[in-house]
Amino acid sequence: MLTGPFGALTEETPAPGLRVLQPERGYRWGVEVYALAAFALGIGGPASVPAATAIELGAGSGIVSLLLASRGLTVRGWELDPAWVQLARASARRSRFEGRVRFSVRDVRSPTRAAPADVVVCNPPWFAPAAGPRSPDPRKAAARTMLHGTVQDFVNAGLRLAPRVCLVSRPERVHELRFEGCFIARSAVLPGGAVTLAEVRHGEGTTVCEPFDLPAAYAAFRGLPIETPS
Ligand SMILES: C[S@@+](CC[C@H](N)C(=O)[O-])C[C@H]1O[C@@H](n2cnc3c(N)ncnc32)[C@H](O)[C@@H]1O
Repeated sequence: MLTGPFGALTEETPAPGLRVLQPERGYRWGVEVYALAAFALGIGGPASVPAATAIELGAGSGIVSLLLASRGLTVRGWELDPAWVQLARASARRSRFEGRVRFSVRDVRSPTRAAPADVVVCNPPWFAPAAGPRSPDPRKAAARTMLHGTVQDFVNAGLRLAPRVCLVSRPERVHELRFEGCFIARSAVLPGGAVTLAEVRHGEGTTVCEPFDLPAAYAAFRGLPIETPS
C-alpha cells in the first residue's frame, strides 16, 4: 500500500494516462474537479473556450491541474501546504507530466510576481469558520473551511494572474463576491443546485447562465463514449 504524510494513499486514473495519488482517508476530490476543469475549457457547455496555459490556486492533490494538462495545457499548480505539493509532484511524475505541470508552495494571500496565464482555476475552501463542526483532520479542515483565506482571496489573486478566473463554489459564496472592473461572465449550476461554476473576467458585461452537461464533461476527461438519451 502507498503511504505518505497523509497515511495510506490510493492511486486513481481520472483520465487515460493519469496516475493521481490522494489520501485514502481525509480530503478526497469529487465530481466538482471534472466540472471545474471542463468549465474552464467550455467542455460540457455551449462553446469551447481556448486556453494554452493555466494556473491552479489551492491545487491540493493536483487533480485539476493534471486534468487540464491531459487536455494539452501547460499548468502551474500553487498550494499552501508543502505536503500536498509533494504528493502532486509525485502524481505528475507517475503520469509522466513533469514537463507540463509544475507544482509549488504559494499562499494566495501573498501577492506574487508570476508570468500570466490564459486562465486561473480554483476550488477554494468555502465553509465559513463559524459554520458547523470542523473536520478533526487539519488538512481536510484547511481544504473545506476558509481558515487560510476566503473565496474572495482566491479570486482576487487569480485576477492578478489571468484575464479570466474559473471557480467552483457554493452559490452563496459566488453571490458574495465583490470586485471593481470585473464581472461574472459565465455561470452554470451543477445537478442538485448546491454547487456553482463561475467565470470572472476583467471588464464589464452581463452574466450568461450556461447549460452544463456534467456527464458529457466527465466522459470527455475519462475518455468514455458520450451517451446520448435514446
Ligand atoms: C477544496 S481544496 C481543493 C483541492 C484541489 N484543487 C481539488 O479541487 O481537489 C482547497 C485547497 O486550497 C488550499 N489552500 C487553502 N488556503 C490556501 C492559501 N491561502 N493559499 C494556497 N492554497 C490554499 C488547501 O490546502 C486545499 O488543498
